[in-house]
Amino acid sequence: MLRIEDLCLEAGSGVLVDGIDLAVDAGEMLGLVGESGCGKTITALSVLGLLPRQAVRVTQGRILFNGRDIASLDDDEMNTVRGNDISMIFQEPMTSLNPVMTLADQIGEGLALHRDLHGARQASEVDRLLALVGLPNGPEQRRRYPHQLSGGQRQRVMIAMALACEPALLIADEPTTALDVTIQAQILDLIGEMRARFGMACILVTHDLGVVAETCDTVAVMYAGRIVEQGPVADVFRTPRHRYTEALLRTIPAANAPGAMLPAISGTVPQPGARPPGCAFAERCHEALPQCAGQRPPRDGTKEHFAMCWNPAS
Ligand SMILES: Nc1ncnc2c1ncn2[C@@H]1O[C@H](COP(=O)(O)OP(=O)(O)OP(=O)(O)O)[C@@H](O)[C@H]1O
Ligand SMILES: [Mg+2]
Repeated sequence: MLRIEDLCLEAGSGVLVDGIDLAVDAGEMLGLVGESGCGKTITALSVLGLLPRQAVRVTQGRILFNGRDIASLDDDEMNTVRGNDISMIFQEPMTSLNPVMTLADQIGEGLALHRDLHGARQASEVDRLLALVGLPNGPEQRRRYPHQLSGGQRQRVMIAMALACEPALLIADEPTTALDVTIQAQILDLIGEMRARFGMACILVTHDLGVVAETCDTVAVMYAGRIVEQGPVADVFRTPRHRYTEALLRTIPAANAPGAMLPAISGTVPQPGARPPGCAFAERCHEALPQCAGQRPPRDGTKEHFAMCWNPAS
């Protein structure tokens, strides 16, 4: 359904995303993980044509949606794709809700535009969607404004809006980070239902590897603007190849050892413009070889499960 080929994104500060490939099939859930600043959000925004154009440019690559290159569409064409085919749940919920519109109006807009629902049918669908995301109470709820909601409640309204148009592809950027675990589980169940019901595909951007293990089919691990490992979730978690994935997996708290000290990954992700020509993880890697920082690592493994590492863990 979606195929990103050799995508490069650049800003004044340097190369932000450096030649990534990603593919998602209908009904598939892909987890996109990696430390803060590695390029997850701007990759997601590029798929929707929502990059801040003055600041970030696509310098290379293609984004194919059902075979059509959507990187080259104009604004009008892209507007139809957004909402009809691809929806996004943003990391910052407040900035994407309209402060002067009631919940009924914001969610209703998408229902009118994409599913031709109006009047009483629209209102009852708004109620149903709000109840699905854990905001029941019908008319009273739908007449509220964003400022009358908590951060977590606003996030759930965003999710209701994204699901309202029954997109073929949902891109969810940290959709449940601000929510408590019960609501988080409800939202993930809801996404699962939509996959089962009409084959919705989903790219889930998250820091939470536990959520990825539970909900995703495949996982792509990003580091400093590159995908360093990708494969079926079970394979990657059982036998990680890249040393960064291996280190990331060690940071997951074990349910059977509460309070145990977790080995944090020391150091920080190098900034764009300050990345070595080789593997950007080399300076933090305990298993680095002399060539790691200087030469771009080869792609190692199979077509399904591969990593870019000079000294893979498996
Ligand atoms: N508008 C912009 N102009 C210039 N650089 C930007 C812009 N937006 C993001 N960047 C840079 O692009 C890189 C990737 O940012 P991005 O927001 O995609 O990270 P992320 O992986 O989503 O991080 P997080 O987990 O914190 O959300 C960062 O180095 C960031 O500083
Ligand atoms: Mg982000």
